[in-house]
Amino acid sequence: MKNTVATIMKQKSAHDRITMLTAYDYSTAKLIDESGVEMILVGDSLGMVMLGYEDTLSVTMEDMIHHTAAVSRGAKNAMVVADMPFMSYQTSIYDAVVNAGKLMKEGRANAVKLEGGKEFAPHIKAITDASIPVVAHIGMTPQSVNMFGGFRVQGKSREAAAKIIADARAIEEAGACAVVMECVPDRLAEYITGILKIPTIGIGAGKGCDGQVLVYQDMLGMYSDLTPKFAKKFGDIGTAMKNAFKAYIEETKSGAFPAEEHTFKMADDIDFEQLERETENEDC
Ligand code: KIV
Repeated sequence: MKNTVATIMKQKSAHDRITMLTAYDYSTAKLIDESGVEMILVGDSLGMVMLGYEDTLSVTMEDMIHHTAAVSRGAKNAMVVADMPFMSYQTSIYDAVVNAGKLMKEGRANAVKLEGGKEFAPHIKAITDASIPVVAHIGMTPQSVNMFGGFRVQGKSREAAAKIIADARAIEEAGACAVVMECVPDRLAEYITGILKIPTIGIGAGKGCDGQVLVYQDMLGMYSDLTPKFAKKFGDIGTAMKNAFKAYIEETKSGAFPAEEHTFKMADDIDFEQLERETENEDC
């Protein structure tokens, strides 16, 4: 059964913590889906972990549609949320609705996510009015890295905490179906989780949220350019991959690979030199 907004709302009221992981391709999405993770985020983090940019700003709508469509094909049960990339919604409410629509129609997402609080409430309302569920994203919003002066924890001071609380209330009022809270102190995240009816999904926001999200390369030890404090390594697949690549090099160089079982056979009675001579004659 496909998970929907109703599923995650039910999970919030049942105190059944929501799990969400990022994915950017078909086969990873399928593995995550088959594991039972309830939501898959096609994050614009793909710009960093898949495409090698230093931040998420260069990610385009075309990138997001392409990767969302691949993930959607692999996710039978998980609710697929597609990130709206930088400048796909900040420019106008019209752009926000049109681009959210493309992620749904062409990417086959089940919801879109956009970064920002109070100032984007009108955009969230317009997209929701077009029957597209919106997941909001507040706290440390990576598309604003140049305003923040780096990827830093947000909401530590009284003023900053008040702004994030006001953002949370505004995005719920505008119709968001859930909110990601990134890099905010755990006490603040827990307070917001208590005052909102919609589920909160934390990343670096402590255990008081209704759910958690991680970038899969971080939790599998596959990306070392940036290692945030919150990114617990649940596996060391990066090392496992390198070991397998090294074994492949060794066996290929020694001739141990490919072995008989990886090889196709044909009858011995064909003489290739004779075959070539015959073929040349036919050409003349
Ligand atoms: O792009 C992304 O992966 C995200 C998560 C960090 C929440 O927005």
